[in-house]
Amino acid sequence: MKDIIILGIESSCDETAVAIVKNGREILSNVINTQISIHELYGGVVPEIASRNHVQNISPVMKQALKEANMNMNDIDAIACTYGPGLVGALLVGVSYAKALSYASNKPLIGINHIQGHIAANYITYKELKPPFLTLLISGGNTQLVLVKDYTEFEILGKTKDDAVGEAFDKIARVIGLGYPGGPKMDKLAKEGNPNIELPKVNVEGLNFSFSGLKTAIINLHHKNPDINKADLAASFEKDVAEILMENARRAVKQTGVKKIALAGGVSANSYIRQAFKKLEEKENIEIYYPELKLCTDNAAMIASAGYYNYLKGNFSDLTLNAVPNLKL
Ligand code: KG4
Repeated sequence: MKDIIILGIESSCDETAVAIVKNGREILSNVINTQISIHELYGGVVPEIASRNHVQNISPVMKQALKEANMNMNDIDAIACTYGPGLVGALLVGVSYAKALSYASNKPLIGINHIQGHIAANYITYKELKPPFLTLLISGGNTQLVLVKDYTEFEILGKTKDDAVGEAFDKIARVIGLGYPGGPKMDKLAKEGNPNIELPKVNVEGLNFSFSGLKTAIINLHHKNPDINKADLAASFEKDVAEILMENARRAVKQTGVKKIALAGGVSANSYIRQAFKKLEEKENIEIYYPELKLCTDNAAMIASAGYYNYLKGNFSDLTLNAVPNLKL
């Protein structure tokens, strides 16, 4: 069979990324321009600034991606771009660029749901991974348990009733003075602490999640006692989060009979959560997958991989494709 080469474009938040991927699984280039140092000054992503930087960066990032893959547009079979969920202005830059590129190069356009992209990151790390499997999507904007029935067919089994888990990491980090981006800073700090602080237990129905009670408890403890050991706070939060995630993962395995769980999204880079799930794999008869670190957070290789499976299904977009900031899976 002829190789299918997809060029992926990602601009949903503060990373401008372009990647070229062969047959959905092999990265030929994966260029990411992150704006973290710009937004760090403001303690979080400033949407207007993100859009402006995407406009400046997208052309050079795209040229670099073609150069690193040693290709030109004639080698590309289709262009896949994230069209939601995300920041509307940021998404519009990638979508407009992809549409212009599709029109100018006469290559098909494929609009990709960013969440589908995060799931597809696992196909790059694990060449043998095939649906059906469960995905625990843990990112800054989403926390969901998803049954991946097929490459483009999904069923949401449970989701957060309030904060996304990454959002809780980021908000706690801001309050205890770690700054932005909170998740990686909490991860590092937690390694110096002990999970010895008792936090309230959260009971949520079925396969849903809730993190705001845990977040508020930590923030209140810090307000009441500003000298509290922050490393212990971070370690205690991570431990409870990992327990909640694992408990729902176990329940989902029981409910569906599917014994493969892939982690996806930025929080799947968390070292404690990765370790905890590895232990779960050893203890119970469940296979755990998580993307290599650079594919956990936003990148375009995962968008190109999801693009490949939509290409095979003939799911193409036309030039009316628009940004959909609150797009659901
Ligand atoms: O998937 P992602 O890059 O963007 C979204 O699609 O939301 O996820 C970003 C989130 C942020 O909340 C960030 O703090 C969190 O992932 N994150 C982490 C770690 N690395 C990134 N959270 C905990 N531990 C980490 N090592």
